[in-house]
Amino acid sequence: LKTHLLTAIEASAALDALEAVRVEALGKQGRVTQLLKTMGAMSPEERQANGPAIHGLREAVTNAIAARKAVLEQIALDAQLAGEALDMTLPVDVPAAGTVHPVAQVMDELAEIFADLGFAVATGPEIEDDWHNFGALNIPETHPARAMQDTFYIAKPEGAADDAAPMVLRTHTSPVQIRTMVEVARRHAGAGSAGGAPIRIIAPGRVYRSDWDATHTPMFHQVEGLVIDKGITLAHLKWTLETFLRAFFERDDVVLRLRPSYFPFTEPSAEVDVGFSVEKGKRVIGGDEGWMEVLGSGMVHPRVIAACGLDPDEWQGFAFGCGIDRLAMLKYGIDDLRPVFEADVRWLKHYGFAA
Ligand code: PHE
Repeated sequence: LKTHLLTAIEASAALDALEAVRVEALGKQGRVTQLLKTMGAMSPEERQANGPAIHGLREAVTNAIAARKAVLEQIALDAQLAGEALDMTLPVDVPAAGTVHPVAQVMDELAEIFADLGFAVATGPEIEDDWHNFGALNIPETHPARAMQDTFYIAKPEGAADDAAPMVLRTHTSPVQIRTMVEVARRHAGAGSAGGAPIRIIAPGRVYRSDWDATHTPMFHQVEGLVIDKGITLAHLKWTLETFLRAFFERDDVVLRLRPSYFPFTEPSAEVDVGFSVEKGKRVIGGDEGWMEVLGSGMVHPRVIAACGLDPDEWQGFAFGCGIDRLAMLKYGIDDLRPVFEADVRWLKHYGFAA
């Protein structure tokens, strides 16, 4: 029996075969177990004669099974490791790297150029109240900019007063002018001419108008500029814009033309055209073969300065507002605005900037 069992143990090629042998020998009905049971019925003499052999058999079989089990487990582990081997020479999957969107790229360029001129970056909420977006900017109730077709109004919350003005999606970045001046006036309240200004900020961000064609999308980007100080004139405005546009388009021959215009929040107001020339059939910024409107500007209206709590007899300044998407289109030769916001990876690959 011993030889039979030990041979069977050695011969088992897998763990389940070995388990079958274990049950055959040591299970409840196992042959070794049966032998052990017979000892109960033996006389003391018989037990003394046979006991050592039976116990020896059980021990030999138990040890043999344990040893064989260890061997089989090692074989299984080796097989698993061989199957999972890493081939370091296989080509790898390179995850697609993102790129910088042209609009984000232009925002970074703007922040850098204006930082060199001493401007900080200011921000404000995209959901604005009527006062910051219109009222404080001297935009009368009847101004067409407030008309339903241009402005996205936010539904009034349940239970709001009937005469409460609705919130709007800001239609321009000019409310950030207001927030900045109000904050400065508040912080320096009572400080007289010692506090309040100067202010030099740009405010890039999203704005919203109900509009849709090749050059207008309902969401687009503007950058606002605001300078408040003593003795600020149109000359400062023109120099600042010229310096900015030359740095942005990376050409010294960028020339500006200021055309008298009207904005409720500036007086006088000017629309700014930039000269372009035609190179290889394409319009490029620089030279003066033609003119393209790029931004609105003017001297901050004294009423706006006063509405924010600063003394307009003491503080003057200029402001400008400029479409960032339009700047991106001009600089990087994009001719349809709509795909700029469609997040088509093929378009982004073409116009995106390596991160
Ligand atoms: N807010 C104006 C617009 O959106 C632009 C502007 C800003 C004009 C500041 C003058 C001064 O059209």
